[in-house]
Amino acid sequence: MSKNFYITTPIYYPSARPHMGHAYSSIVSDFFARLKRIQGYNVFFLTGTDEHGQKIQRAAEDNNKDPLKFCDDISKTFKDLSKTLNLSNNDFIRTTETRHKKSVEHLWKILEKKKEIYLSKYSGWYSISDEAFYNNDEIEDVDGHKICKLSGSKVEWVEEESYFFKLSKWQEPLLKFYDDNPNFILPETRKNEVISFVKGGLKDLSISRKSFTWGIKVPSNNDHVIYVWLDALTNYLSALNYPDQKNDLYKNFWPADIHIIGKDILRFHAIYWPAFLLAADIQPPKRVYGHGWILSGDEKMSKSKGNILDPIEIIDKYGLDPLRYYLLKEVSFGNDGNISNEKLESCINSDLANNYGNLCQRVISFCEKNVGMKIPIVGEFVKEDLEILDIYKSKFDELKTKIDNQNINFYLNFIVEQLFRANKYFNDQEPWNKKSNKNRLNTIIYVSLEIIRKISILLYPIIPQSSLKALKIFNIKENEIDFATIQNHKFLPSETNINKIGILFNKFNK
Ligand code: ME8
Ligand code: MG
Repeated sequence: MSKNFYITTPIYYPSARPHMGHAYSSIVSDFFARLKRIQGYNVFFLTGTDEHGQKIQRAAEDNNKDPLKFCDDISKTFKDLSKTLNLSNNDFIRTTETRHKKSVEHLWKILEKKKEIYLSKYSGWYSISDEAFYNNDEIEDVDGHKICKLSGSKVEWVEEESYFFKLSKWQEPLLKFYDDNPNFILPETRKNEVISFVKGGLKDLSISRKSFTWGIKVPSNNDHVIYVWLDALTNYLSALNYPDQKNDLYKNFWPADIHIIGKDILRFHAIYWPAFLLAADIQPPKRVYGHGWILSGDEKMSKSKGNILDPIEIIDKYGLDPLRYYLLKEVSFGNDGNISNEKLESCINSDLANNYGNLCQRVISFCEKNVGMKIPIVGEFVKEDLEILDIYKSKFDELKTKIDNQNINFYLNFIVEQLFRANKYFNDQEPWNKKSNKNRLNTIIYVSLEIIRKISILLYPIIPQSSLKALKIFNIKENEIDFATIQNHKFLPSETNINKIGILFNKFNK
C-alpha cells in the first residue's frame, strides 16, 4: 500500500489581497496534511496563485500596473499569509512560472494530438469575475444587468473565434467515472448536483480567448491565449514536474488524493478537470471536496462584494491557533459557516482556555507540588482509569475512517468530549485526597499526563503551535509525533523529567 498523500488548496486569484475565505480553505487543507504526516504518510501539500486571464489583466489595468508586476505584489501577500497561517505546504506554485507554462503547453498539445480540440466560434455569456461561460438558462436580469443566478456575478456577451474542447463526448465516460468512484465528489449533496448537471447535457467547452493577451499562448496559434481554467487546473500537475512522468514527485503523488476547494468552483474540478485528464489519458484525482462558504451576514464573503474579513486582523487580536481551532470546530465542514468576535471569544474561553489549557495547568502544577517534575511510576490501572484510557483504542479505527472521509466535526467533537472527561476524571479521582496512598496518587497523575499527551497529539493538526508547546512537557518534538501512539497507555517513561509550560491560552473578558 502506498504511503504517499497529495493534497491541494485552490490556487487563488491575486486580484486582491487574501481574505478569511481563502484562509479557511488553506487551514482545512493544512489540517489534513498534518494529520496524514503524523499517521506516517509522505505528504505533498500544494498551494499557490492563479495569475492569468481577463480578471487579473483588468485588475492590473485598474491599478495602472503591468500584470506580472501586479501579480508579483499580490501573490506575495498570499505567500506571506501561508506563513502567518503556519501552513505546512511543500510548495507554492504561481501560474506565471516557466515550469507551469511548459506543463500547460504540453497538455494542450496532447489534447490537440488526440483530436480533442477544434477551432470554431464562441458566442455566449461570460463572467470575468468567475472566469466562466454560462448557458442562457443560468442567466437572469437584475436591475437591467445580466447576472449569473448561481454566483450572482455580472456576465457579458462574448462573440469570438475560439478553440473548443470536445466536452460533450465525455458526458457518458464522466457519468461512468462518478459511478465507479462513488467518493470522487464529496460531500454527497454536492455530488448529486454535479451528476444532475452532467446528465442535463454537456456542451463543448470554449478553451481559448482572443480578445486579450494575458495568458499562456496556444502553442499552434499565438493569436489565442489558453482559457484560464485549463491553465489553472494544470497547476496540480506542474508542481509534480509534469510532463516528466518518470520523476519521483509525479510517480509518488499523482493522482492527487484530494483537492480541497470551495463549492463555487466545483464544476471546474469535478467536471472539466477529470474530462481534460481522461481525454489526455491521465488518471483523474481521487477526490474533490467542495466545502461551504464563510459568510458575512447571509452572503458569501468575497472581494467582489467587498464584505471581507481580514484574517491578519483576527490573528493579531486573538492569535493564530484560536482562529484555526474556531474555523475547524465551529464551521460544520461541507456547510456554510460564520465567524464573529463574540463566537470566537466564547470558543477560546470554553474549549481552549477552560478545557484544554486548564487541564494542562492543573495537572502539571499538581504534579510539581506532589511528585516533583517527574513522570511518576504507574501502579495498577483501576476501572476508572481504563474507562478513560481505552476510548483512544476502541475509537481509533472509527476516528481514522471518519477523518479519511473528511468528517472534521466528528474528530473535533471527539476531542472536546475527551477534554471534558479528562477534567472530570481529575476532579472525581481527587488526587489531593490520596496523599496517604502514594501508589494511587501516582497512577492518577500518570493517567492524567497520558491523556494530555494523547489529546495534544490529536490537537496537533488543528493548533500545531499550542500542541507542540504542550508536548514540550514530555520533550516530544514535532518529528516524533506518532498518531498511532494514542492507543498506547504506557507510552510515557516513568521517572523521566517533565517540563513546566506557560499559559497556553488567555481568556477573553468583555
Ligand atoms: O476561484 N468561504 O480563485 P479565488 C470559503 N483561481 N471559502 C472561500 C470563500 C468564502 N467566502 N471565498 C473564497 C479561484 N474561498 C480560482 C481557483 S483552482 C485551480 C483555481 C476559497 O481567489 C474557496 O476555496 O476566487 C474558493 O473555492 C476559493 O477560495 C476561490 O478563490
Ligand atoms: Mg472567486
